[in-house]
Formats: sequence, structure tokens, C-alpha cells
Amino acid sequence: MRWMSNMAEILDGKALSAVVKDEVRSEVIELEAKYGRKPCLCVIIVGENPASQVYVRNKVKAAAYTGMESRLIELPADVSEAALLERIAELNADDAVDGILVQLPLPKHIDEEKVIYAIAPEKDVDGFHPSNVSGLWLGKDCIVPCTPAGVMRLLDSTETEICGKTAVVVGRSNIVGKPVAKLLLDRNATVVIAHSRTADLASVTRQADILVAAVGRPGLITGEMLKPGAIVIDVGINRTAEGKLCGDVDFASCAEKASWITPVPGGVGPMTIAMLMKNTIRCFKARQ
Ligand code: GUN
Repeated sequence: MRWMSNMAEILDGKALSAVVKDEVRSEVIELEAKYGRKPCLCVIIVGENPASQVYVRNKVKAAAYTGMESRLIELPADVSEAALLERIAELNADDAVDGILVQLPLPKHIDEEKVIYAIAPEKDVDGFHPSNVSGLWLGKDCIVPCTPAGVMRLLDSTETEICGKTAVVVGRSNIVGKPVAKLLLDRNATVVIAHSRTADLASVTRQADILVAAVGRPGLITGEMLKPGAIVIDVGINRTAEGKLCGDVDFASCAEKASWITPVPGGVGPMTIAMLMKNTIRCFKARQ
């Protein structure tokens, strides 16, 4: 008998991301044999935001692991919006490029919305273009943003039925909160979107069979805010004053209450990158 039998199981995103990347790796071999070329992902980074540099490096590393082609375009922080849009237009027109990702956030003088709109929807591996966003909300088979797709894959790995469960998403960003809520709704969960203005957040989160935290507030979710046995997915990536990475979930107290919980780091983060590889394959196939 385990001594701490009420401890949650760890949802290991690092291990699961390796499985996903291996799936992609096999598929890259098949696709190259079939079409005579490999999928190609192009990642653009503007400026020297240290966190963005780490993410971008990991994306390129993952692409290399899967055997696909990748290009990294590093532009100076003072690059003009027009010059960036011009680079995107070139990549849109380049038949050798299947996926285009512009790392966010961008410097203040560049309009992120304009940049997102400029990427050809069929190469939009982030799934941020309005044509993909509307597709998601209208229930079309389209490119799904990487982090929400990674959250769903993590949930599926627990082999828990989602249908009929109450899912509470804390956070309403376009990148995570809103799309993950729609994906949960598509699986017939009863979905609640809570956010920074939600009154009595704990009374809402205590309803959750599935809790997805994506607000960017370190340690906001504590064990006493959970229903016993909840599945807890922590999308937060925050840095403490000491530079340590931490999520939106207080891991220690929540692990005593949850049935499954993702760690930070090693939970959602690696899954985001793995799903980016999947999205690149998807774009490649759709363009053949
Ligand atoms: N910055 C933080 N998350 C993301 C993401 O998923 N895609 C891009 N392009 N930038 C990000």
C-alpha cells in the first residue's frame, strides 16, 4: 500500500511530448517518401526577449528531432512593421515553407494583429489567424492552437471521460483560455470560463472535475479551491523573484487533492511544442 495514497498522479508532459514527437518523426519519413520533400517550419523571432528566445530555440530543436526542415529568422527589435510583413509575404509565397510562426509578444511598435492576419491561413501553425479561429468556433476541421491542443492530449492520456464533466477554465486569452474552452465544449464538457473579475473564484473552481489554469498568476489555484479528485492542468508559466519557473497552480497543496496534475515545468510547455510539430505536418499535408 502506498503511504500517500491520496497524492495525485503526475501528468508527465515531457514524456507524452516525446511520444507525440516520435509520431511526427515517423510521419515525416512517410511524407518524404511519398512527396519527395519534408515538411518545413519557419519560425520568426523579433528582438531579444529571453523567454521568447528559449521557446524559439526549443521549437527549432523539436523540428530537428522530428526530421522536418526548419528555418529560424531572427530580426532586430527595431525592425519595421512593414519589413516584417514583407518577410511574411515572401514566406507565404514560398512553396518550400509549410508553416509560419511569429513568436509573440512583438515589440510595441508592431501591431500583432496585423502580423497574425498577414500569415497565410494554410501556413498558420499557431492557429491564430481569424480564418482558423472562426473555423474552430464554427466546428470546422481546422488548425487548432498548439497549447489548447496539448491540453486536450494531456487530458486524453488520463483516459478519463470528458463528456458530461464540468470543466472550469481560468483565463480567457485568445491563445489559451478561449480555444481550450471551445475544445472542451466540443467534447461535451459543461464549460465555465472564469477570469480575473470572477467573484468568489473558489466557489467556481470547486465545481470543476477538470480545471485548466491559464491566467498568469503564480500559485493562484490552491488545494482548498479544488473538488477532490479533479484533474488539474496548469498552463501558467511565471517566474518568481528568484527566477524560478512556477505555474498558476500551487502544486504542493493541489497534488494532495487532485487525481491528476501537471507539473511546471514539464507539463503543458513541452506539449505545446509537440503539437506545433503536429500542426506543421497538418499544414504540409493540406498543401499537397
Ligand atoms: N508566445 C507565447 N505563446 C505563444 C504561442 O503559442 N505562439 C506564438 N507564436 N507565440 C507565443
